[in-house]
Amino acid sequence: MDLFDLRGEIAFVTGAGSGIGQRIAVGLAEAGADVACVDLPGSAGLAVTVGQIEALGRRALAIEGNVTRAADMEAAVAATERDLGALSVAVNSAGIANAAPAEELSLEQWQRVMQVNVDGVFLSCQAQARVMLPRRRGSIVNIASMSGSIVNRGLLQAHYNSSKAAVIHLSKSLAMEWSDRGLRVNCISPGYTLTPMNLRPEVAEQRKIFERDTPIGRMATVDEMVGPAVFLSSKAASFCTGVDLIVDGGFVCW
Ligand SMILES: NC(=O)c1ccc[n+]([C@@H]2O[C@H](COP(=O)([O-])OP(=O)(O)OC[C@H]3O[C@@H](n4cnc5c(N)ncnc54)[C@H](O)[C@@H]3O)[C@@H](O)[C@H]2O)c1
Repeated sequence: MDLFDLRGEIAFVTGAGSGIGQRIAVGLAEAGADVACVDLPGSAGLAVTVGQIEALGRRALAIEGNVTRAADMEAAVAATERDLGALSVAVNSAGIANAAPAEELSLEQWQRVMQVNVDGVFLSCQAQARVMLPRRRGSIVNIASMSGSIVNRGLLQAHYNSSKAAVIHLSKSLAMEWSDRGLRVNCISPGYTLTPMNLRPEVAEQRKIFERDTPIGRMATVDEMVGPAVFLSSKAASFCTGVDLIVDGGFVCW
């Protein structure tokens, strides 16, 4: 369908070397976009993502960079524009998670999660908007989490939950600043999703709880994040900005 067609769009995905970001990068290419794939230096997954996109007949670019460094994000956007063309679609998926009881959580651990999940999304959006706003055309989708709206029972991650609430409100704030300048900003809030992080054998018991607590009765696959990302990035969502699209199998209803 033309509404969801991303042919001619130049996309930029952070966290594209693994999990949700990797699958969305390939998904945007399936919908027709050429894609710059950004992840930490040494990310083995980046080459895999690029290979999958090129196999679809789309152009791809592997870019090593750290989302917490403004200069890296500026350079990544510049490389994208130089090698692929005018950036028009961005998905910011880079993020980290860990757990500790709040009363024992060190300031360093708190700040590290905030740095990657909040500063990183802000710096990515800023670099992307600086080239999109003058052209008055673009879409940014930030990957937040249902943990930005609810508190996951049994998971001690006050820092992570707070960082994702910040991503949701940052996305809405940027959407309002840029709404009359042709740039839409939305976020996707996944529920429990089968990514490398959640496939480790030591999380097997936790996975059973995730499945039980999700109304649809299972965890999401990364494939199920593609439709929402393509939708928000496409003409189909031309009147959507400031949306937090919760993709959680019904979790937040309970
Ligand atoms: N898996 C889930 O259940 C789930 C649920 C809700 C939200 N999310 C969010 O989805 C996003 C992707 O998570 P995932 O499960 O695919 O994790 P993942 O670990 O598989 O992928 C995250 C990617 O981000 C990259 N990254 C981390 N720090 C970075 C930095 N400083 N600069 C550049 N890249 C960096 C990692 O190298 C990795 O490739 C995260 O923001 C996460 O919080 C995940």
